[in-house]
Amino acid sequence: MNVLKWIILSLAFSAVWIGCSRTIPIERTDYEMLSEAELNEIIETGLEAWRMPGAIAGGAACVQCHSPDGIDLAKANYSNFTVRRRGAGHAAPGIETLNASKLEDIVNKIRALQVKHGFTAVDPQEWIPFQPGELPIEGKSNQERDAEFGRFLKDMGLILSMDWFNKEADTQQQAERLTEVNLLDLPVGIRLNLWSEDPYYSSSADILGDWLPLNPIRPTGSGQYLFDELQRAYTANTGIKQLSELLSFISEVDFRTPAGTLDFLSYSKYKAQLIAQHSFRYTGKKSEQRSSSIDEILSDLNRAEPEIGNPFWDIGRYFADSPTIDELNLPESHLSRLSGDTFQDLALAWLWLGWMADPGFQFTNCEPEWDCVAILSDQLTEHELHFHRMFMKSKAAVERRYQ
Ligand code: HEC
Repeated sequence: MNVLKWIILSLAFSAVWIGCSRTIPIERTDYEMLSEAELNEIIETGLEAWRMPGAIAGGAACVQCHSPDGIDLAKANYSNFTVRRRGAGHAAPGIETLNASKLEDIVNKIRALQVKHGFTAVDPQEWIPFQPGELPIEGKSNQERDAEFGRFLKDMGLILSMDWFNKEADTQQQAERLTEVNLLDLPVGIRLNLWSEDPYYSSSADILGDWLPLNPIRPTGSGQYLFDELQRAYTANTGIKQLSELLSFISEVDFRTPAGTLDFLSYSKYKAQLIAQHSFRYTGKKSEQRSSSIDEILSDLNRAEPEIGNPFWDIGRYFADSPTIDELNLPESHLSRLSGDTFQDLALAWLWLGWMADPGFQFTNCEPEWDCVAILSDQLTEHELHFHRMFMKSKAAVERRYQ
């Protein structure tokens, strides 16, 4: 067991070391001289702009697609230029809507949030949220990465064989080893998604696979008011209770959204994004170092409001059901960049992340016809990731048994 821990620790260490060796520009030096009270004031001012209706998608506000206070943009360290470039498309003349000077309040808020939370500067085009070990296993092809993964498991003392659960002697020890493996730390040959794949830089189908919803979350009627209240309650006190209330509210709206539509994808992404941004709050140097992992957050949330389920998995399932380009009613900015007919290839990374967040499929909808292990297993086979598949089946079986 010690060997296993040592390997995982040393991997985590080397990943941190690699992560720190790159230098990238930091635009927040001036903000570092401000007091906590001054930072909070800038954040409050920026929040007003963040919640103001803008010029696109029928007046959507940043808060209807991004995190409740914009911490996602602070964590991913987008430059001032990028925030202005993206924000400019939302700016409109008028007092009631987001205008160019209000946009500057958002730029200030993002830098103030970075200092307040003590986030390290990452390159948003390289930082992959929740990628175990920070980078996927290296290799020229899936087969190569898979072979490397297999060797790695063997070094950890895990014998991979489809029938080892039937062998009495080894079973207990193997099962213990498998439960010890923390999926959130285990490097894999699957590349997870960037926070944003901006069509400005990117031209593959990945632009649909990133974390941010293309359609805003905008309930109608009094729902709009309640949504706003719940956002504010969470921003004022970022607890699990407030987050679960916000998520469960969205789940109810989501419930009426047909599963194959862009709205369904957007709602699932919005929920996934809310869980992710909650965990970012515990990753900065100034965090309270409370537990922050997505599996614990997901389990706490579902214990509070069981309808929340597993939004990461829902996104994966959406892509696995391979919607076609015609079904999606995509905006022109995205449509012109996309080639290919379906988005099946985007499924695997989200399904794996969904499994990382819920290793025993306790909170995931796996009704018989939606057998979760079979869905992920098929995807892994298709991508020729056979060691990943054997490991997944064994680990999932052990996790379920220990539930
Ligand atoms: C309708 C939903 C929506 C709204 C409203 C919205 N965004 Fe975004 N934002 C996205 C999506 C989706 C992406 C990911 C890239 C893409 O697909 O265009 C994104 C990406 C970004 C990025 C990263 C760009 C990059 O280079 O990767 C920034 C910065 C950003 N948004 C800022 C804002 C600001 C500021 C506002 C409010 C003024 C805002 N967004 C409002 C959906 C939205």
